[in-house]
Amino acid sequence: MGEPVSRVRPLRIGMVGAGTISGQYLQTVARLEDLQLTAVADLDAARAEAVAAEHGAAAEEVDGLMGRGDVDVVLNLTVPQSHAEVSSAAIAAGKGVYTEKPFAADVAAGREVLAQGRGSGAVVGGAPDTVLGTGVQTARAALDAGVIGTPTSATATLILPGHESWHPHPDFYYQPGGGPLMDMGPYYLTALVTLLGPVREVVGAASALRDERVIGSGPRAGERIPVATPSHVTGALVHADGVISTVVMSFDGAATRAAPIEVQGTEGALSVPDPNRFSGRVALSRDGGGWHEVPVSAGYRHAARGYGLADLHWAGAFDGDPLRGRAQGELGLHVLEVMEGLLASAESRRAVGMDTTVERPAPVPMDHR
Ligand SMILES: NC(=O)c1ccc[n+]([C@@H]2O[C@H](COP(=O)([O-])OP(=O)(O)OC[C@H]3O[C@@H](n4cnc5c(N)ncnc54)[C@H](O)[C@@H]3O)[C@@H](O)[C@H]2O)c1
Repeated sequence: MGEPVSRVRPLRIGMVGAGTISGQYLQTVARLEDLQLTAVADLDAARAEAVAAEHGAAAEEVDGLMGRGDVDVVLNLTVPQSHAEVSSAAIAAGKGVYTEKPFAADVAAGREVLAQGRGSGAVVGGAPDTVLGTGVQTARAALDAGVIGTPTSATATLILPGHESWHPHPDFYYQPGGGPLMDMGPYYLTALVTLLGPVREVVGAASALRDERVIGSGPRAGERIPVATPSHVTGALVHADGVISTVVMSFDGAATRAAPIEVQGTEGALSVPDPNRFSGRVALSRDGGGWHEVPVSAGYRHAARGYGLADLHWAGAFDGDPLRGRAQGELGLHVLEVMEGLLASAESRRAVGMDTTVERPAPVPMDHR
């Protein structure tokens, strides 16, 4: 991993939500000297206290954390239904905010948060930041170098049997706001926008052919849970320049050998690794020939969860220009609108145009942090 690297004054983080994913963020914070955890809050006070004690930070109520002078940014790791409320409170308290995905539970709430943040000059960013790693960034560098000619189409495929096989409390995956698209779609769609640019229109089709699922592990093993949201979502995204991405996000499959993402072009095809990971092999096939690995050429070499926030800091977002850096709220909101649009289109059987747009975030040159 190399030595911790410090280039700027540490960014002081107040973390709200000390659940499952927080451990991965805290590893990154411990490794990067430019990030410093000062306070932790959670609805579960005991959880906040335990995590705070372990990391030498203060345990707070949510309101107390927002009022602290030693918090520059609120790291919002709460559940999706709380994202907008916590982000909005952080901005109102004069803090920046970086939220886990999705940017909000729905586009209307996400729009309000972003408008509030931009109106007050706050930093507003969010996950996923997996796209800043060497996997997607090497693919992007290859695309931008023209190795497949002009991109013409892409496919993105996630097919799983469903999380109820291993998750002891999988109920929320099958309620509105859950499902394969809202849960895993942010990784794939953020990667597609990073590679191919914003989306102008979507067409969706979705199904939920089983109305119950069976919990496979833990104390509730064997219990049946209801399905109230599509468990198989497919669709086409028409990007602003006319390239079409075909997306399959499913908790209704047995297995797949499809590449997570493939991009086709006039002179070749590019295979992109799992966008839920920071690294992985990029492969290229040119002119109908065999597949060859593309050497790693771009991205944060040691990226892990939290690098999106670090990137905003390194780029100077907290030094007066909140739009510097890559994992910006505009990207999170656009991806959320694409997801909502796919589900709305599946229901209405009509194409849905996007109101939001976003520029492709700047590429990440090879960076050994
Ligand atoms: N678990 C994963 O593998 C994973 C991976 C990537 C991203 N995420 C995302 O991270 C986020 C959190 O997921 P998780 O798995 O850590 O969930 P979790 O349920 O394990 O933890 C969430 C924590 O937030 C707290 N919380 C909820 N609402 C709150 C509020 N209003 N104020 C203060 N605290 C609040 C809860 O008490 C809980 O401790 C989600 O948006 C999820 O999509 C999770």
